[in-house]
Amino acid sequence: MVEDKEERLEGDTGRTDSGRVAISGDAEVAAYLKIAEERRGEQSPAEVERPVADREAVIVVDFGSQYSWLIARRVRECKVYCEVIPHDAPWERVAPLNPKGFILSGGPGGVYEADAPLAPAYVYESRLPVLGICYGIHLLAHQLGGKVVPGSKREYGLAILHQSEMNTPLFAGLPSDLPVWMSHGDRIEEMPPGFVSLAYTENCPIAAMGNDQGFIGVQFHPEVAHTPQGKAMLQNFLYRICGCSGTWTAGSFVNESTQRIKEQVGSGRVICALSGGVDSAVTATLVNKAIGDQLTCIFVNHGLLRRQEPERTNLTFQKHLKMNLISIDASDRFLERLRGVIDPEEKRHIIGEEFVKVFEEEAGKIGRVDFLAQGTLYPDVIESAHTGNREVATIKTHHNVGGLPSIMNLALVEPLRYLFKDEVREVGLALGLPQDMVWRQPFPGPGLAIRIIGDVTRERLEILRAADWIVMNEIKKANLYRQLWQAFAVLTPVKSVGVMGDSRTYGYMVAVRAVTSDDAMTADWARLPYEVLAHISNRIVNEVPEVNRVVYDISSKPPSTIEWE
Ligand code: XMP
Repeated sequence: MVEDKEERLEGDTGRTDSGRVAISGDAEVAAYLKIAEERRGEQSPAEVERPVADREAVIVVDFGSQYSWLIARRVRECKVYCEVIPHDAPWERVAPLNPKGFILSGGPGGVYEADAPLAPAYVYESRLPVLGICYGIHLLAHQLGGKVVPGSKREYGLAILHQSEMNTPLFAGLPSDLPVWMSHGDRIEEMPPGFVSLAYTENCPIAAMGNDQGFIGVQFHPEVAHTPQGKAMLQNFLYRICGCSGTWTAGSFVNESTQRIKEQVGSGRVICALSGGVDSAVTATLVNKAIGDQLTCIFVNHGLLRRQEPERTNLTFQKHLKMNLISIDASDRFLERLRGVIDPEEKRHIIGEEFVKVFEEEAGKIGRVDFLAQGTLYPDVIESAHTGNREVATIKTHHNVGGLPSIMNLALVEPLRYLFKDEVREVGLALGLPQDMVWRQPFPGPGLAIRIIGDVTRERLEILRAADWIVMNEIKKANLYRQLWQAFAVLTPVKSVGVMGDSRTYGYMVAVRAVTSDDAMTADWARLPYEVLAHISNRIVNEVPEVNRVVYDISSKPPSTIEWE
């Protein structure tokens, strides 16, 4: 039996023709657990950054839902480590994480479709608790012997959940009627053997179901903000059902991560590109904490940064954190190559290419280098892991000046690979980085070049820097900086007529952009108080002589994008 199981561990879903799985006996379960135990010690070098050890983790099995990463984020907010894995990931990938339970995500299709993705056999056979959400509850029903059918109408939006069973651990401590967010078309016609209905809504007789093995399904989405008690339900699943204790914190991450970096790097030499942003700053600080002088940071000033940014970066890393820092002012090279270029994608291409050249030249002067440290975050990992057949149109190439791996041909040190942005900030604070660096708003790699519409010249850069400085100042003064995803000025090529004193002016129009967002995928224009807008506008036209008109951008994303280019 064990040999059979070993074969099935290679990513097989354990599905039969009908898609159902058979739950195995104790001997088979023991075989799974034994292999998990063995595999925990043998990670491949590529996986070395994965935080493991004896930490508890809950795994989100992704069936293509747009909310999968959000589930992971909510779990981590409950201080339990969580990763999203593709639905066809083999047990070897999962076992080293020390899973305490699984969450099956939603998904776009129906479980009864011919090629519907199914949960791998180990989800059921490892005997760990399982929470199926939306498509996930349908999988539980379908794979364990129940029946799912297309519903006669879609249910989308808020519904009131009524509990039909008392003392359900998932709803412990919560009122018996709860607002929940629904988004589904299919429904469960027949529960699998051993399951009971735990809750219902007006349109959904089985809105939650469970069995005594710790398999639970919910039709609604506990991970979204529209389910107000959703996080409490997830916490119940993690703590009461999976038995997690919630030990995952930024401090424990720093300790484990520095240990791992030491192990990975040994006596090797590491370089890291600093951009001035929080991701590269936290990466460099972590690596520096782990291996000190073996790390050299390179900061390339491409001449497209905000006012005082180069000085602040040098001050923080060289003077305060005492790191090995090579700081290069390459503005002339970049501006020379950008002369006359007005196409946004061409700007990005030139800046990305030139950045690599400068970085390579400087790295070449250091001598032998073994590793490149970079601030890849979890959403980037999830995004690049998505191999669905969705056609994705290229809107912008998003050249990130820190993204160098394929060109440098160095082994990567990516300590933030499994963190979300807000977790990176917590780690930054735990490392003692200055608040203003930790809370810095995102800034695009190509910098101000994509906020000057048209030709990028020194003169225009100075105009934009002056206007942008005022926007930043006023936003900070109004205590709005942290509430906004980004706030900045854009220099348009439009010139218009104005009047100052008794004279006619003919000056530039500056646009102010301020947006709220969770992840930059969608964004809304910020409802800045009129007072703040008035101060910004007043100061810009008074303090920046080349500008005589200020407009506020009231477009959301989509259909606009955050940056103008
Ligand atoms: P858009 O304009 O696409 O921007 O709505 C979404 C987020 O990405 C940032 N952005 C970039 N970041 N290189 C980067 O590193 C780029 O070329 C780039 N273009 C946009 C933008 O600031 C926002 O946070």
